[in-house]
Amino acid sequence: MMNQKHIDVVGASKTYPNGTIALQPVDLQIGKGEFVSLLGPSGCGKSTLLRIIAGLSTPSTGQVTIPDGDRRAFVFQDATLLPWRTVARNASLICELEGIDKAERAERVTAALKMVGLEGFEKVYPRNLSGGMKMRLSLARALALQPELFLMDEPFSALDEITREVLQDELLRIWQSKGFTSVFVTHNLYEAIYLSNRVVVMSARPGRIERVFDVPFSYPRTPELRLTPEFTALSVEISDCLREGVHA
Ligand SMILES: Nc1ncnc2c1ncn2[C@@H]1O[C@H](COP(=O)(O)OP(=O)(O)OP(=O)(O)O)[C@@H](O)[C@H]1O
Ligand SMILES: [Mg+2]
Repeated sequence: MMNQKHIDVVGASKTYPNGTIALQPVDLQIGKGEFVSLLGPSGCGKSTLLRIIAGLSTPSTGQVTIPDGDRRAFVFQDATLLPWRTVARNASLICELEGIDKAERAERVTAALKMVGLEGFEKVYPRNLSGGMKMRLSLARALALQPELFLMDEPFSALDEITREVLQDELLRIWQSKGFTSVFVTHNLYEAIYLSNRVVVMSARPGRIERVFDVPFSYPRTPELRLTPEFTALSVEISDCLREGVHA
């Protein structure tokens, strides 16, 4: 399935200054345009690995290679919006920090807000948005950067089930139309399977990759997929693997 290699993680490990071994040496190659999830129990090093891939954290050993000049956008579980800025000005924040000029920024913000279904809300303040809309805005702010690499750390885990499923579909639609490479952290195995073409199962103490699963379902995916015997069978297999990792 892997076409052109996009992210190359070689022997990357992380020991924090307090001595916590968060990640044993990890090798992981991710192809251009893939949607890969990092799945595992709390504390297994998912965020640590994602932050290393994002360039937000330096690995203690090993390295991560991505093509020069590729933009990496990051989305967290918390939407981290600025309450004193409107929707439009929140959406433009990362572009401002990147020094993109005003006219270009305005165009990108309009396009990004449209992509996530927030057109018409430009002048609204975050306090007047629902949780799902806040997350849409957080996605728009990242998408306005026009990233080649989109890195998400449990972006939907604070949302209710219905909103989460709607946003999963929106994210897949945007990913398919834009073609960026996605790395998505979650502890929800159904979410990992539904979104991804590969699921990387991690296990704790200290964190490592337990197994990598290919997800055989074609895109675009639709909610009915979750009800198929094939989806259930893969869920059972990955669930078993997660349990083995915990008991190891
Ligand atoms: N800055 C830090 N200093 C020391 N230890 C840390 C630091 N950040 C994380 N850890 C530890 O490293 C391990 C892996 O943490 P990490 O946040 O990567 O796990 P995670 O899989 O993202 O967990 P969760 O699902 O709870 O978000 C944990 O034991 C955690 O306590
Ligand atoms: Mg985490």
